[in-house]
Amino acid sequence: MCGIVGAVRNSDASGFLLEGLRRLEYRGYDSAGVVIINQDGDLERARTVGKVAELEHALNQAPLMGMTGIAHTRWATHGGVTEPNAHPHICNGTLALVCNGIVENHETLRQKQHEAGLAFTSQTDTEVVVHQVYLHLQKGLDLADAVRATMKELEGSFALAVVHAGEPDRLVAARQGPPLLLGRTDDESFIASDINALLPVTRQYQVLENGDVVDLRGANCLIKDRTGVVVDRLVRTSSQSGDSADLGEYRHFMQKEIHEQPRAVADTLEGRLRGDQVLEDSFGREATRIFDATRQVCIIACGTSYHAGLVARHWLEYVGVPCEVEVASEYRYRRHASREGTLVVTISQSGETADTLAALEEAKRQGVAGSLVVCNVPESSLVRESDLAFMTHCGPEIGVASTKTFVSAMTGLLLLALALSRRRGFDSGFEAHVVHQIRTLPAALESALGMETAIANMAQAFGDKQNALFLGRGAHFPIAMEGALKLKEISYIHAEAYAAGELKHGPLALVDERMPVVAVAPNDLLIEKLKSNLEEVRARGGRLYLFADPASGLIESEDVQVLHVAPVDSAIAPIIYTVPLQLLSYHVALIKGTDVDKPRNLAKSVTVE
Ligand code: G6P
Repeated sequence: MCGIVGAVRNSDASGFLLEGLRRLEYRGYDSAGVVIINQDGDLERARTVGKVAELEHALNQAPLMGMTGIAHTRWATHGGVTEPNAHPHICNGTLALVCNGIVENHETLRQKQHEAGLAFTSQTDTEVVVHQVYLHLQKGLDLADAVRATMKELEGSFALAVVHAGEPDRLVAARQGPPLLLGRTDDESFIASDINALLPVTRQYQVLENGDVVDLRGANCLIKDRTGVVVDRLVRTSSQSGDSADLGEYRHFMQKEIHEQPRAVADTLEGRLRGDQVLEDSFGREATRIFDATRQVCIIACGTSYHAGLVARHWLEYVGVPCEVEVASEYRYRRHASREGTLVVTISQSGETADTLAALEEAKRQGVAGSLVVCNVPESSLVRESDLAFMTHCGPEIGVASTKTFVSAMTGLLLLALALSRRRGFDSGFEAHVVHQIRTLPAALESALGMETAIANMAQAFGDKQNALFLGRGAHFPIAMEGALKLKEISYIHAEAYAAGELKHGPLALVDERMPVVAVAPNDLLIEKLKSNLEEVRARGGRLYLFADPASGLIESEDVQVLHVAPVDSAIAPIIYTVPLQLLSYHVALIKGTDVDKPRNLAKSVTVE
């Protein structure tokens, strides 16, 4: 989702700004732009619709040079994907601003600004913000004070950065919602929406808090809080690698990340098991105390992470821990009957999802025994806001559609279920059995990846399809949901998942020879039930594409394709059966020729609600 970078340098800033935008690309966006204050003290702007490469091309044709600048990747909310709507927005030729987030009262402010004689060149809410800062400058306020005054008038959730042609060595930035980081070297200063953009210049950074306004003047940076009091924010050191991600032998990051899963899960498990046991401090220093106080779990997440939560519910309830799983955007606006002893667990690969953050805040307001996040980004907001954190340690995920972070999050949640099982009377033999299975995960994932060629062949059947159904039962229903989500995200085929037992309550009406029906069929307690459901599909002329245990008894025929998944214990089966569905959607997307790593309209880090 929208990304901001900015710099006050003592040499040309354009290279840093462009590289910063490239490093924020993975978040998802549809246009990009940059403003630089040139050596004559004028604002120079370039904006393009499409990829950062388009902007780079434009800058190669007409370079912008200057030591201070701001840049932005835009993910459209208000106003279509057009160059006039791309940021930075400029007021009066002197003031340029980029913004991430949403200003809810933009209509009211726009009306007043019209009356004040200001003209608009875009349909965005951001242009209202730059006008508002300008109006305060007109009243004689200093740039930072004008930004603070504007913040007080804006409703919504946003982060912004602004430069003024009259002050070529200065940049002012502010946060009220989406993250904004400040990085400094001895004589230069930088801002960015996430650490990836800062890594080429520094690992040290400070996280602005809500209400903060930071005034960057080279080495001198002053942070003031919403009341105008000077504050200092903790200087953190990033542990992330500064290398920009490299595709290696793969065609897409998604393919690379699917293939990294055995290693990713091995890294997730590193240092988390001792002998036959899960180490509780993998979840944080306070884990034992909080787990002792936990009576039930409430999992909150969005998208793929929500599906990980739905799988975890099966594991938690198996070990006797009541569990509810909530979509964050619904949870945050619903009334709740809070229950004592609730451990709220958020799941988020990015750690920045606005709805999940707001839902966590709401849960904490209700009173909880503790909060735990399962996350892949150590420097993220959810990690900072939670009592406990289980870091998945699977390295940066670049593909917008989550893959390795999903299997690693499920792995972490299985460890959580084991840690809580001890408190529910499950003996050490149970934990030892599941830990033994968990240790086989990397090899079992590797074996599932061996299905790729066969799956690529199977994918041919989907190239001309508009719709698909995905079926599963038990803990594999959420895996079917994830399979359907992956297919729609990256191939744009409409796909729906159903608990197979629900088929006859509606979706069966859709089934004919043109409707591919994909099912995951591990050899578990529900296999005979699932087979009956699959027969219902066959009887209506449906085409079945099955990922099945060899012992399931499912047999190939003219209308049934079966690919065997090596036998796995039911404790880890959902994690393994994820892989063939990821590979299927990837290969269908290749056939469709879509932008696999950056699917249209989607974002990796969803920092607006
Ligand atoms: C976006 C991403 C998904 C992700 C979801 C939740 O939609 O494209 O891959 O599952 O956000 O994100 P989170 O970072 O909270 O897991």
